[in-house]
Amino acid sequence: MSEKKRVLSCIQPTGDMHFGNYFGAVKNWVDLQDTYQCMYGVVDYHAMTMPYNSVKLRENTWELIFNLQAVGIAPENLFIQSLVPEHTELCWIFNCFTSYGQLSRMTQFKDKSNQSEETEDGFVSAGLLDYPVLQAADICIYRADFVPVGKDQEQHLELARNIVQRFNNQVGKEYLVAPQPLFTEFTKIASTADPTRKMSKSAGEKHYISLFSDSDKIRKQIKSAVTDLGEVTAGEMSPGVKNLFNLLKACSKNEAYDSLMQDYEHGQLKYVDLKTTVGEALVELSEGFRAKRKELDARKKEVKEEIKDSSAKIRERARETLRMVKELSGLLNPKI
Ligand code: TYM
Repeated sequence: MSEKKRVLSCIQPTGDMHFGNYFGAVKNWVDLQDTYQCMYGVVDYHAMTMPYNSVKLRENTWELIFNLQAVGIAPENLFIQSLVPEHTELCWIFNCFTSYGQLSRMTQFKDKSNQSEETEDGFVSAGLLDYPVLQAADICIYRADFVPVGKDQEQHLELARNIVQRFNNQVGKEYLVAPQPLFTEFTKIASTADPTRKMSKSAGEKHYISLFSDSDKIRKQIKSAVTDLGEVTAGEMSPGVKNLFNLLKACSKNEAYDSLMQDYEHGQLKYVDLKTTVGEALVELSEGFRAKRKELDARKKEVKEEIKDSSAKIRERARETLRMVKELSGLLNPKI
């Protein structure tokens, strides 16, 4: 058994991976692979909590698996949530250690249920309320120590720690591990169309820049990024400009960052220069990812088989935890 600390994180297959996902979390996932025992999941059960299309769900799940590998996630660290059904069984057990009140106060639940209530049929699924409990199960089924995520997941992590504490108290043993978040320097990349909100798929197409977009689309989106309306002054930096600087830094373009920041501090920054530099930095990154993706597409079948195998291997760890949890909870384990 490996002595390394365990890292777990997941992403929803609800559309394109964007620069917010990448700089907020996934880039960190890649870097952590050398130091920790890492497990990264594509959480298709979570993607069912909002209205969805069944055919698209499976397509998006594979699409994301390919894209995660294209940005540098090793296939042996990847799994698909529905191939590890132990997550949902642990979720049920965790439901019984979660307060309904706390769930209904979750920011994401409030945002997304409001969004759903505004649609024609106003349907809000019980799955949406239960979403963070399944997330806690995703983490705890591997007894993960660390969870690299963006800031928007902090509240969910806190809930997971509450569940762990309540469970451990109930069974009288410190069996489950209270997970800690790992944040990057860029915990919240903003939408370039509205820099007061986070870059996000669920907010609509103009609110995210896909990591695999064609170069002209990326340039165009950055060109039309909201900065501010007036002249640049040496006062408080506007959120839009700050976000563009953040993107530049996140791309490790330190020289360009310093030089443009100097212009800003001297009141001489031309937005067009900042936007062109950011646009080109993102395009450069994206081109590398697209090239890698092309290689993976050439051996599609093999890549899918590898992921089925890695999911089966990762499932072994989940089985072990679930067995122990059921034992400690007073439940029975089947003979297998
Ligand atoms: P998801 O699919 O929305 O996003 C995946 C990761 O990207 C981060 N992220 C951002 N970071 C910075 N700026 C942004 N604009 C931005 N947008 C997204 C998210 O914080 C996340 O880390 N609930 C999770 C999925 C999940 C999960 C888990 C995560 C399910 N089970 C267990 C960790 C552990 C989600 O919806 O992520």
